[in-house]
Amino acid sequence: MIEAAVYDTKPYDREYFSRTSVSDGVRWRFHDFRLTAETAATSKGAAAVCVFVNDAVDQACLEVLAKVGVKLIALRCAGYNNVDLAAAKDLGIAVTRVPAYSPNGVAEYAVGLLLTLNRKIHRAYNRVREHNFSLTGLVGFNLAGKTVGIIGTGKIRKTAAQILRGFDARVLAYDPFPTPDWAAQHGVTYTGFNVLLGESDVVSLHLPLAPETVHLLNGESIGRMKQGALLINTSRGKLVETTALIEALKSGQLGGVALDVYEEEEGIFFEDRSGQVLLDDELSRLLTFPNVLITAHQAFLTQEALLEITRVTFENVLRLETGGTFLAATRL
Ligand code: NAI
Repeated sequence: MIEAAVYDTKPYDREYFSRTSVSDGVRWRFHDFRLTAETAATSKGAAAVCVFVNDAVDQACLEVLAKVGVKLIALRCAGYNNVDLAAAKDLGIAVTRVPAYSPNGVAEYAVGLLLTLNRKIHRAYNRVREHNFSLTGLVGFNLAGKTVGIIGTGKIRKTAAQILRGFDARVLAYDPFPTPDWAAQHGVTYTGFNVLLGESDVVSLHLPLAPETVHLLNGESIGRMKQGALLINTSRGKLVETTALIEALKSGQLGGVALDVYEEEEGIFFEDRSGQVLLDDELSRLLTFPNVLITAHQAFLTQEALLEITRVTFENVLRLETGGTFLAATRL
């Protein structure tokens, strides 16, 4: 029997992970707090820890994990910017992730945010509930014939770009590692970063967070976007410089923003803070704009994704005990 400590769990995590029973060979130890250097000692007795996007698996945390005998960090997400991979390697701790748990789910959600933001469905929903049936201020635009720029063309872009092509939008893409065959097949045009920014009515981010992509969208690059363009970010919050975003919304440079991720989401997103004062001034400011739509890192949250996350994590933890190799393409 192998034991795995699962951090930052919510009821839906526990429900899906609990579908694998102890008799299958893994005992899950659920924690509702995050894994940090301060909490890492709670993993004592576990051979693996399972973490999510906002656990802070830095050098200090890894040192504690190594000391108590943890051999595997199983990320139950695709992005891995919150783990110090070099330090994990030095300490002999393996790191795995779930590379493609719901590319469709995230892509569908990104398009859902775009439709909601553009057609102001979030505002209409609130109005009608208050018996305000006025349409004033709810004018959107057709996606057909507009240009949508996709930055980062990995697994998620495929579905996102294909859905958008279904709307008869012109789809531009930028990626340092393009896939031209796929683009040609689906009528997507690769172009340079600046051309994409300058020509797109909508820009959607689908690239990972890495040191070189922090604040990819900053005052300067947002300034190169088409006046009044919409920006959709379902990737990682730190790809966008929030201060510059607020300025661009105030000046009208951006016509609207939909965020499923936020630069300083750690400790805020995934939690019910409805009874508390929100101390993050930039998030508070963003929430005042009628043309800003924010959700709390929800794009992945489908039944299919939770099943796949559980399947891959369970299998990799089990393989740790049997000494086998981890599932293909999951080891970092
Ligand atoms: P992927 O790894 O399949 O593709 C990422 C693509 O970005 C690659 O083609 C890569 O070449 C490209 N890229 C790297 N640096 C770039 C740059 N500077 N400019 C443009 N493109 C660049 O990743 P996938 O599965 O498509 O996911 C993308 C991101 O979405 C993840 O890294 C993760 O941060 C985020 N995500 C968010 C979720 C949510 O619930 N909001 C759920 C799942 C993923």
